[in-house]
Amino acid sequence: MKKQIFAVVLLAVGCSAQKANQEDPCKTKARVVSDVTYCDRYWECMSNQPELYDCPNGLVFAGKHRGVTEGCDYPWRSNYCEGKQLANGPISTEHCDWLYGIFGHETSCTRYWTCWNGTATEQLCIGGLLYNENAHSCDWPENVDGCQKHPLCNDDSNGNVPLGKSCNRYWQCQGGYPRLQRCPAMLVFDRRSLRCVVPPTEDCDIPTTPASVDGENPGQQVQLDDEQVPAINAKGTFSRSNKN
Ligand SMILES: *[C@@H]1O[C@H](CO)[C@@H](O)[C@H](O)[C@H]1NC(C)=O
Repeated sequence: MKKQIFAVVLLAVGCSAQKANQEDPCKTKARVVSDVTYCDRYWECMSNQPELYDCPNGLVFAGKHRGVTEGCDYPWRSNYCEGKQLANGPISTEHCDWLYGIFGHETSCTRYWTCWNGTATEQLCIGGLLYNENAHSCDWPENVDGCQKHPLCNDDSNGNVPLGKSCNRYWQCQGGYPRLQRCPAMLVFDRRSLRCVVPPTEDCDIPTTPASVDGENPGQQVQLDDEQVPAINAKGTFSRSNKN
């Protein structure tokens, strides 16, 4: 398709930034073409005249009969905006950064919002999946950075962290996610070396009660009870559930 200059339209629209090689939609079969400068705009042939349209706020032009509505699509679905700019800024409503789009939840890693014309609908990730802001969809926890990391594990995402004043229990960070661990029988957790060592240490004497009263194997990952589980309840933050 030969690219055309349509000076009349450029004057009519008063769009000085418009590039000269804008394709004329009236000379295409689809009667719709993308804007050459802005990815959230397109030209449609109306009564044999090219007319400029904005995509719904938050969407960018994908092509006739493509995208989610009016030929427009979520910008992350393809490289629609490569080498182009956005003409329009965001129009925000409650939970929606733009009128149309998919957005993270303010307080939950397992929830997210879908926005349609500024109306937000809460969505839930199931099966242990978390909302991934980059993929705009539910994903495995290991792919969702902000949510699996506990502040406990900020210093070393695979290190050990003391558990209060406990001499035999500690947190073991695994990829930023804390697991409660117990030192093998007769060993104590050393707050300096962050390892289970032969007592005594500065803080811990030789254990007075043998470990393994419930028959668990030394070093086995212990079952977390309700008071100890750091639940994922918010982006990057955890809380301990409290049954009291
Ligand atoms: C979007 O919402 C506004 C007001 O909230 C309404 O006037 C408009 O018709 C809606 N547009 C669509 C495409 O539903």
